[in-house]
Amino acid sequence: MNNEKLNEIRKELELDLEKVDSEAYLNELKVKYLGKKGLITELNSEIKNIPNEQKKDFGMAVNEFRNLFTTSYEQHLAIFKEEALNKKLETETIDITLPSKKIKRGSLHPMTLMTEEFEDLFVSMGYTVYEGPELESDENCFQKLNIPKGHPARDAQDTFYLKDEFENFLLRTQTSTAQVHAMEENTAKGPLRIVCPGKVYRRDEDATHSHQFMQIEGLVIDENVSMADLKGTLEMFCKKILGDKVEIRFRPSYFPFTEPSVEVDVSCFKCQGKGCNLCKQTGWIEVLGAGMVHPHVLEMCGYDPKKYQGFAFGTGIDRFAMFKYGIPDIRTIYGNDIRFIEQFDRKDDTYEVK
Ligand code: DAH
Repeated sequence: MNNEKLNEIRKELELDLEKVDSEAYLNELKVKYLGKKGLITELNSEIKNIPNEQKKDFGMAVNEFRNLFTTSYEQHLAIFKEEALNKKLETETIDITLPSKKIKRGSLHPMTLMTEEFEDLFVSMGYTVYEGPELESDENCFQKLNIPKGHPARDAQDTFYLKDEFENFLLRTQTSTAQVHAMEENTAKGPLRIVCPGKVYRRDEDATHSHQFMQIEGLVIDENVSMADLKGTLEMFCKKILGDKVEIRFRPSYFPFTEPSVEVDVSCFKCQGKGCNLCKQTGWIEVLGAGMVHPHVLEMCGYDPKKYQGFAFGTGIDRFAMFKYGIPDIRTIYGNDIRFIEQFDRKDDTYEVK
């Protein structure tokens, strides 16, 4: 093979490489030059037939062609790959400034949130959670709590009684009835430390009263339990739920199942006792009823009042939730309007009056 022929091949190769405009064409050239029957491949197999004195030059020329092709091939390929990547990136870009799709999440009802907060607190103080029935006998709801038939204290709790053969049954008006169950079920007649959350029912209906609402009751029975224990417990309870700054005060009161009985006020957590619309300018808000368990109640539930004393307290869970979440009308709590419930999709750890 003469030099002229080699020069022709070189020219053709250079021309071909100049025309490269796509990866497909580049690959066609690879077949044309380096394929099994490619031009450079064939030149390479020619080498052995070349007379010795021309072998060196010929060999060098073949090498030069191969280098020329592979260098150019790699450069072009790199460019095509980058172009393809850029194109992909361009078409697949995500506009992060677009508003995201709102993921609907379920949420716990504010009554559940508030109840769990109370339960967590009392469980941390060694109490257990005890739930009594909502359908109750007259005996448990009233009589064993020192409210016999005809007692005027019944008038304060307008009650849903059942009819006919169930006339001795009613929807419980207070969670205090759970005390009776817990004391009677405790056959060892030993110490008790329980909280009883649950629904109660009364014939009431306005912005702050609903025919169905929720209470939580506390009962501690032991030897040597005093009013001081009650005060310490309720102080802790109010501070944990309403904030460290609140003060509590006991006012003498009357409940048939406790003696002595008190009503418990907290200093207004909205105005810090200065006087505002929430506390009706008094600086105090009534939050609990409480007292030392009446010896007659202990006795009726099987406890020896000479050996055991106890304290009890009760409060409205709704009332606390209304304070905590700034709910002005209790009826929204039980209205089942999903827009109301959806606002509680996160448990709020900080207490704040809105
Ligand atoms: N059961 C009472 C009510 O519904 C609240 C209450 C007062 C509960 C005094 C108690 C208590 O345990 O000792 O109004």
